[in-house]
Amino acid sequence: MLSEKLEDALNEQMNWEIFSANLYLSMSSHFAHEGLAGFAAWMNAQYQEEMFHAMRFFNYINNAGGHAKLGAIDAPQHTWKTPLAAFEDALEHEKGVTARINKIADLAVEERNHAVGIFLQWFISEQVEEEDSVSDAVGKLKLVGDGGGLFMLDRDLGTRVFTPPTNA
Ligand code: FEO
Repeated sequence: MLSEKLEDALNEQMNWEIFSANLYLSMSSHFAHEGLAGFAAWMNAQYQEEMFHAMRFFNYINNAGGHAKLGAIDAPQHTWKTPLAAFEDALEHEKGVTARINKIADLAVEERNHAVGIFLQWFISEQVEEEDSVSDAVGKLKLVGDGGGLFMLDRDLGTRVFTPPTNA
């Protein structure tokens, strides 16, 4: 069972995951437009991952007796000055996601809803990986600067593919 407050919080997060997906798809489009196919592919994989996150919330809410409700999604930013600026925005975004997940986990503890707590544990671990992978890309972009290294990094990051986790 979900309290109304917890159901609302889970719904808000589901919609935020969809916003996240749109943000990364927008970054993918931006990079494709800039001729950086590897960065575009990396962001496309990130988009797929976010939709996977959204569907986890969607399924959980409905399976727990609640009602997953899709809301209005704000338009994301469309362009970024540099690849580094886009990845830095992505890192800030992921830190924000972590804070949101932690807040819902606090609410679950407050309400002693251990089932929701267990559900959120996967996301708490996932956020460590999310922040790490974006932070890794930010670090590499800072190292290579604007020179030819950028094209090598584009090729390197372009190898990323999204595979849904088997433990999910
Ligand atoms: Fe679904 Fe990147 O957090």
